[in-house]
Amino acid sequence: MTQDEEEFPQTYNEFRSDTFTTPTYGMIEHGFTNATYGDSVYGEDESTLKLEKLMCDITGKESALFCSSGTMSNQIGIRANLFQPPYSVLCDYRSHIFLHEANGLASLSQAMVHPVIPSNGNYLTFEDIVENVTLDDGDIHAAPTKVISLENTLHGIIMPIQEIAKISEFCKMNDIRLHCDGARLWNASIATGITIKEYCSFFDSVSLCLSKSLGAPMGSILVGDSKFIKKANHFKKQNGGGIRQSGIMTSMAIYAIENNLQKLIKSHNYAKQIGEFCNQHGIILESPVDTNFVFIDLKRNKMDDKLLIKLGHQKYNIKLMGGRIACHFQLNQQSVDNVKKCILETYLYNQKHPYKSDGKNNKKMYNFDAIKR
Ligand SMILES: Cc1ncc(COP(=O)(O)O)c(C=O)c1O
Repeated sequence: MTQDEEEFPQTYNEFRSDTFTTPTYGMIEHGFTNATYGDSVYGEDESTLKLEKLMCDITGKESALFCSSGTMSNQIGIRANLFQPPYSVLCDYRSHIFLHEANGLASLSQAMVHPVIPSNGNYLTFEDIVENVTLDDGDIHAAPTKVISLENTLHGIIMPIQEIAKISEFCKMNDIRLHCDGARLWNASIATGITIKEYCSFFDSVSLCLSKSLGAPMGSILVGDSKFIKKANHFKKQNGGGIRQSGIMTSMAIYAIENNLQKLIKSHNYAKQIGEFCNQHGIILESPVDTNFVFIDLKRNKMDDKLLIKLGHQKYNIKLMGGRIACHFQLNQQSVDNVKKCILETYLYNQKHPYKSDGKNNKKMYNFDAIKR
């Protein structure tokens, strides 16, 4: 067993998501020896206050709020940016807030979502925003855009800061609030050298996750000005998000920020290796590999995701869930090499036996017997 396998027995071969990262021994020890046990719903837990203060320093924002998940900090953040419906939230059509947060925008914010396909295929540009925004100009047929939400990174792609700056300026001029789903803003910052503070300066609110690449066991942070965070805290409580003795979690999160941030470079290098390997073998990727994700274009490569997953499981001792390969610092080189072999073997097999999805996944969802009758 290698040292990585010993320290990260559950994650050294885990490519399904960076959310699978586990607390390191150092983090657990720090959590238990330094945690305080105040009631954070009353704002009395020292470790939680310390984490929130640290995040204010890192982001340059007035106030911060520890939340149980990225979904919660996004949803209450967007809710606290909104006032009186009808209104809409404009975002990338692949956004987590739109596709993967259980319709929270409709139920928690009563917002219409305006999903936009980036014209360059990768990230939303200022021109995309101008073309799709609904200004609050008195047209009673429309739902004016009151929040624009940008996800950085999205599919591991870094949004250029110049584009963010232009969109931010546009929002200020048009009374639109700008939110950032920065679940992986850490990755963008480490890869570009642009500080988290500079990124955050363009947004009214930012949500940053602690439990993805950084390896903290849970949580995310929402930042903004004090009035906004006070309101968001109200929504946090309303949604059952008040955590009483959050000190163990928040002291582990402090350790994760202070010790694991630089380790993200390792995860980016792994992803780059896999991306370059795919390029060398003519395997088409869906997105550029800017940070810790590799997106294999299964459709254009005519590759079978089920074969990829099965080979990974049975032959290469790696955990995959399809064409999205997620890297993190708890992987080891041997597993990364195995991923390459697994991708290539699936690709070569499917070059001889091209795979075309037969819609079986959909059949699972629909009752075809009922339709036949
Ligand atoms: C971009 C993005 N935002 C938000 C979230 C939500 O985080 P959580 O799983 O903590 O609710 C995720 C989760 O993977 C994510 O990828």
